Amino acid sequence: MVDFTLTDEQKDLRELAHNFAEKEIRPVAWDYDRDGTWPQEIIEKAWEVGLMNTHIPTEYGGPGLDYLAGCLIEEEMGWGCSGIGTSLMCNGLATAPIVIGGSEETKRKYLGMLAEEPKLASFCLTEPDAGSDVSGMRTTAVKMGDQYVINGSKCFITNGGYADFYTVYAKTDKEAGHKGISAFVVDRNLDGVTVDKKEDKLGQRASNTATISFNDVAIPAENMLGEENHGFKLAMMTLDRTRPGVAAMAVGIARAAFEFATDYSKERVQFGVPIAMHQAIQFMIADMATKIEAARLLVWQSGALLDQGKRNTLASSHAKRFSADTAMEVTTDAVQIYGGYGFIKEYPVEKLMRDAKIMQLYEGTSQIQRLVIAREVLMPRRAAEPAAA
Ligand code: CAA
Repeated sequence: MVDFTLTDEQKDLRELAHNFAEKEIRPVAWDYDRDGTWPQEIIEKAWEVGLMNTHIPTEYGGPGLDYLAGCLIEEEMGWGCSGIGTSLMCNGLATAPIVIGGSEETKRKYLGMLAEEPKLASFCLTEPDAGSDVSGMRTTAVKMGDQYVINGSKCFITNGGYADFYTVYAKTDKEAGHKGISAFVVDRNLDGVTVDKKEDKLGQRASNTATISFNDVAIPAENMLGEENHGFKLAMMTLDRTRPGVAAMAVGIARAAFEFATDYSKERVQFGVPIAMHQAIQFMIADMATKIEAARLLVWQSGALLDQGKRNTLASSHAKRFSADTAMEVTTDAVQIYGGYGFIKEYPVEKLMRDAKIMQLYEGTSQIQRLVIAREVLMPRRAAEPAAA
């Protein structure tokens, strides 16, 4: 039976996240955006109340929440400020490959580290010449005795400048394309790890985006995640698990813009009536509302499938693609409803429009999501496979 009613526990969690976003994030969000402030204090508070590391299993000290619960939290964080929300949620992306492929010892050490203290981790996949085309990466990991030596550079790394460790993808067989990639955990304090560049971004300016370089970085062989040369699939399985949360954050951005725009439309008077009385505005508001509802349903479905142990590749890309595009369209329409004021920084919606843009880019562009959807539709075998396949 299909039932979209949240349990009392889910409602409480959503309320906790919403209150946190309202009290701790919203009051500073526009200042942090303007100044590009790193939200250290908010990270510490979120960690304290249990809103970070939601997917770390209880046996490693985490709350062990399910994916749908994670999506409920991420929508509220996106509603508060998606830049700060991205900083809070990035540990989920970095740790998913550890949860899926890490040895018991690796899980205890690295998941335990994040559960014990408000520390951070980053996911190092993208390179200057390998964005959408993951297989084109050039970073290498060469086995030397009981170590791997990593060389290469990763860009657009969320929280990269503040992370205590990285999950890094590297070629262990340069000739084997996607079948020659392996994943590793790399400690930040090792010799040869450098944070090269903090990006100055259009939106999500309170999040940290850095370039991380690895120059002859030697790591113990046991820091490999999963099997050698199986890293590509680990990355794809990770993104299946994290795209629902990113999509939820996009819904949060859209919802925030929608609320500002509807409130404004009731106050702003033109031609003798509030602009909400004009059908031109009403139809925009109606379309915004429908898109947000539809996006949320796709998000919940993509999270719920994971919680049922099913492979959610198709649902995850539907959710990510539709929610990201919805965030962009709804925030653009919110600026339109504000008219000229929408273009001015004194008003809230231009930030949301800038923030929304990254949703169509990171964790797989909207074009890559369409590519995945087309492949999954044409080869439906994948939808039937279990999540851990
Ligand atoms: N789960 C498990 N296995 C999968 C899979 C999945 N979801 N998707 C693909 N595979 C398997 C395939 O079955 C295939 O297996 P075999 O070798 O056994 O046949 C193998 O992986 C290769 O698959 P493809 O042929 O589909 O691979 P491709 O090279 O054509 O790439 C792609 C597919 C979808 C384009 C992929 O490269 C991709 O998702 N690119 C986007 C990457 C991305 O999202 N980057 C963002 C990085 S995270 C970020 O944004 C950083 C941040 O800090 C926020």
